[in-house]
Amino acid sequence: MSSTHTLAPVPTPVPEEVGRLYDRLTALDTAKTGGSLHLGYWDPEDDEVPLVEAADRLTDMMTDRLGIDENHRVLDVGCGVGQPAMRIARRTGAHVTGISISHDQIGRATELAEAAGLGGRVEFRHADAMRLPFEDDSFDAAIAIESVFHMPDREQVFSEIRRVLRPGGRLVLTDFFERAPIPADKRPAVDRLLRDFIMTLAQPEDYVPMLRRAGLRFVELLDITERSVRQTFEQMSRTTHGEEEMQTAFDEEADEKFSPAAMLGVDEFGSVLLTAQKPA
Ligand SMILES: C[S@@+](CC[C@H](N)C(=O)[O-])C[C@H]1O[C@@H](n2cnc3c(N)ncnc32)[C@H](O)[C@@H]1O
Repeated sequence: MSSTHTLAPVPTPVPEEVGRLYDRLTALDTAKTGGSLHLGYWDPEDDEVPLVEAADRLTDMMTDRLGIDENHRVLDVGCGVGQPAMRIARRTGAHVTGISISHDQIGRATELAEAAGLGGRVEFRHADAMRLPFEDDSFDAAIAIESVFHMPDREQVFSEIRRVLRPGGRLVLTDFFERAPIPADKRPAVDRLLRDFIMTLAQPEDYVPMLRRAGLRFVELLDITERSVRQTFEQMSRTTHGEEEMQTAFDEEADEKFSPAAMLGVDEFGSVLLTAQKPA
């Protein structure tokens, strides 16, 4: 039996540890992923489109749900190295403020935006999403691409986002969730992923009650798993970035580390696109 079977339960994420993980990942060559740090989105007929392109497509799908233009201010919660924020600013003309718990990501994102001539339209700031350093009602929309699963309490984050959104403003996010109970033989691969990336999986039935308690109105929930998860892990498992380089970022003590290939066939591991709105 593999040693991963003896792993203790996946702990609640600690933001500072997540920040250090992303500091280490920022040292890797993110050009291979086009700067995005999230899944791609594929149509059934275009399975082979590169991850870089498919990842931008997911950003665009989410952006289209924000209802924004050049008059609006957008908050990007968990902004990575800024690729989604820059793409949103270019496509819509909106002003985007990105926050990350990783100091190194904020440094890299700021450099990349300046190099792209977007310094006036996007800005990046180190902050914890659990306590957003912004005034009430200060953004027209918020996006959170694959970031809330790293946070200790999704409901608290939703509540903070609601506070900083203006009435009528939208939140669009993607998250990982347990689509169906994960069978015992697939649990080690999933636990390894959750542990190495310091994440928790949501339960699908929790989203609407969490949003309601946070003061947000539910708008839409899309299970995008079939268009995103397998294709991303397949492409990652074919690159050194997925299998070797990335492992240098994880816990050196661990005898087994995250492997994208180990996630192939884990159909219970789901990805969701969720839209909510602050009541007008
Ligand atoms: C998987 S990356 C996604 C980055 C970006 N959204 C993208 O799609 O390229 C997760 C991001 O969430 C951020 N994050 C995680 N926990 C956070 C927290 N408590 N506060 C702020 N950012 C956080 C990480 O620093 C990282 O930027």
